[in-house]
Parts: sequence; C-alpha cells; structure tokens
Amino acid sequence: MSNKETIEKKELSSKNTMIEMIKVGRTYGPDITALSDISFSVETGEMFFLIGRSGAGKTTLLKLICNMEIPSNGLIEVAGYNINTLKGNDLAHLRQRIGVAYQDFKLLNDRTVAENIAIAMEVSYKKPRAIRHRVRDLLDQLQLSDKHNTITGELSRGEQQRVALARAVANSPRLILVDEPTGNLDASTTEQVVALLTRSNKAGATIVIATHDKSIYQQSKHRIMELCDGSIASLTRGEQP
Ligand SMILES: Nc1ncnc2c1ncn2[C@@H]1O[C@H](COP(=O)(O)OP(=O)(O)O)[C@@H](O)[C@H]1O
Ligand SMILES: [Mg+2]
Repeated sequence: MSNKETIEKKELSSKNTMIEMIKVGRTYGPDITALSDISFSVETGEMFFLIGRSGAGKTTLLKLICNMEIPSNGLIEVAGYNINTLKGNDLAHLRQRIGVAYQDFKLLNDRTVAENIAIAMEVSYKKPRAIRHRVRDLLDQLQLSDKHNTITGELSRGEQQRVALARAVANSPRLILVDEPTGNLDASTTEQVVALLTRSNKAGATIVIATHDKSIYQQSKHRIMELCDGSIASLTRGEQP
C-alpha cells in the first residue's frame, strides 16, 4: 500500500499519539533561536495548552506542527507521519485533516464570512447543503449570524478572529491548532469560543491552543506546556475545578 493510500484509508484518530516532537529546534539566521531542544507529545483526543510570554516560541511551534515552517533540526510526527518528509498529495491529505486558526487570521478579506468558512469543506468536496448548514450552525454558536454575507475585511478584529476559528473547525478536522484564539475578545465571546473548542474536543478532535489568556486554561483539567525563550519551562496539568 502506498503512502497516499495509507493516509486516505486511515483516520488520524487511529493513532494514540497525535503529535510527537523529538529534539526539535528552529532558528532564523545565525542570531535568532525561536525554539531549541523541544521534545513532547500530545495524545489523540487531548486538549493541550501552550503558554508563555510574547516571543516565547508558541506561534513557531504551531507552524511547525502544520508544516507552515520546517524545523532546523529534530523530528516531528503528526499521526505517525514525519510531516517534513511527506510530499505532494500525501501532505495535502494530511493537511486537510488539520484545522488552523492563525494569530493573524489569514482570512480572504475580499470574500464574505460564509465563503471564508466554507473553504475547507469545499476543498474536500462536501455537499453544498451540508456546507450551508455547517456555516449557519457555526455562525450561530459564535453569535455572528448577522454577518453571514459581510465582507470579512469590514469586520472588527474580534469578529475576524471568530471567523478564523469557525473556518478552522468547519470541516471537523481531527487536529485543530489555534493561536491566541481569544486575543481580541471580551469575556462573553471568549466563553463562546472556549465552548466551541470544548465541543470539538468532545467530538474527538485533538486541540492545541497557544494562549496567554489565563482565563481559558487556569480552571481546566488539561495539560499546559509553558515555553520560555524557546525552551520548555514546565509541563503541568491544570487544576480541575
Ligand atoms: N520569520 C521570522 N523571522 C525571524 N524571527 C522570527 C520569525 N518568526 C519568529 N521569529 C522570532 O522567534 C521568536 C519566537 O516567536 P513566536 O513563535 O512568534 O513567539 P510567540 O508566538 O510565543 O509570541 C521571537 O523572538 C520572534 O521574533
Ligand atoms: Mg504568537
């Protein structure tokens, strides 16, 4: 069986370990070490928090997991696949099962909210009716129903942030990576975002959340990894309420 067939036929959740990093480093030029000697793993079905000050390396770590950046050294496996040696269709198949909400959103700012959210589902050939239902359901959960046909460039940053999240989870990916998902939100919209991520996690998705918003991880029972200057400072479990 070729690599491609293997990926097409296997659900990502069939592996117990969703993400494994072994001695991973990432440098930019000779002077900047964004990450060094990072070894950890995330189990399938976990909700995992990545915390640390601005510049600690959180965004770089998420980009390494989804192959947006390549490591300078070390090994990265996602669902058992070395993400840096996968190519072409194999990589595309794996990427389709990973939903990412970027810190800078990366929305198509001249398209509507609904079009932005529908993209991942269209790429994987979901039926138009299923797409319409899913888009309306997500907008409802994030209190954005009245923005369905709004051009995303005209939204506030907090609204754009929620559209980016809706797009990341729309196609029910097995792995969801979210970077500072509540950075521009007030307490009540933060709660909606956390509720949506919790529902996706309960439905089986593995979720990695980079954040410095204490309110979303302090009360959780999930594991929390703190980065400091590109290294792992601690790996603890939240205090379950
Ligand atoms: N493309 C890049 N070029 C140069 N330096 C970068 C680049 N991306 C990140 N860095 C640097 O790597 C370090 C970690 O950045 P980042 O991963 O964005 O941290 P965080 O998300 O925790 O704020 C910072 O010092 C940042 O300036
Ligand atoms: Mg960041």
